[in-house]
Amino acid sequence: MTITATDFDFIRQMVKNSSAIALDDGKEYLVEMRLSTLIRKLEIPSIADLVSNLRSSSASSLHQMVVEAMTTNETSFFRDAHPFEVLEKTILPEILAKRRSERKLSIWCAASSTGQEPYTIAMILCEAFPEIRNWKIEFLATDISEGVLAHARKGCFSQLEVNRGLPAPLLVKYFDRVGTDWVIKEELRRMIKFQYMNLNQQWLPMPKLDLVFIRNVLIYFTVETKKKILKQIEGMMRPDGYLFLGTSESTLHLDSSFERVALGRAACYRFPQST
Ligand SMILES: C[S@@+](CC[C@H](N)C(=O)[O-])C[C@H]1O[C@@H](n2cnc3c(N)ncnc32)[C@H](O)[C@@H]1O
Repeated sequence: MTITATDFDFIRQMVKNSSAIALDDGKEYLVEMRLSTLIRKLEIPSIADLVSNLRSSSASSLHQMVVEAMTTNETSFFRDAHPFEVLEKTILPEILAKRRSERKLSIWCAASSTGQEPYTIAMILCEAFPEIRNWKIEFLATDISEGVLAHARKGCFSQLEVNRGLPAPLLVKYFDRVGTDWVIKEELRRMIKFQYMNLNQQWLPMPKLDLVFIRNVLIYFTVETKKKILKQIEGMMRPDGYLFLGTSESTLHLDSSFERVALGRAACYRFPQST
């Protein structure tokens, strides 16, 4: 199933306008692959027909389906391991000590895909800091794809998904076996609110944030979009909060307000501290 240059340009412009995902030259194969799956599902004869439908209608559901099809939802429990070690051993002890009197913590996991990342954070909180059970935890996880959000809200993971990164003792403790799948316990699911949010459009109102995770999504955006998003995050964080990016991402040359904090084999970002 091939795509013409004109149709590729149309799709790439549409996806960029909507989600800010930048499809560079040479990504025709990716668009073909993703849209082939979509047209099979929708029983549309060809990519050309799909594009023609998109051109002639403003049906937002079809647009949304195409944008969703172009998202990469790769994720896993404890992805890259080291940032979560640092979170448990260094960052959370520091932040929780500072918030002990107010007993409040606010976390945002942007581009959370099918939920493995926010559930990893929730497991760390419950496992290493049981005292926070009586705290007010505001934990928002967002994504542009309704499909991955539905998966995350359900909290139901296949054997293959739990095999990727989830230590066996945590699987046994925080999941119930249902048929061949594993379902996250209510206690953890209740901690997280999964909501639709497009990073390229109006953001949801949020409290001032202690921890922001926006990992493995900035890579899909242009430099201008990355700068805009980091600037917006900057205004949403508490002065002593921490920002986590993907291992191949950084704020370097994008936002000079953050300083990089290297902790062992991981790094996170915060505002320069006066003390
Ligand atoms: C590679 S996954 C990263 C998942 C997780 N953060 C991790 O590091 O494992 C990227 C996610 O970003 C989401 N995404 C892409 N563009 C977005 C946008 N404009 N707004 C919100 N989410 C977006 C995709 O739907 C996808 O689930």
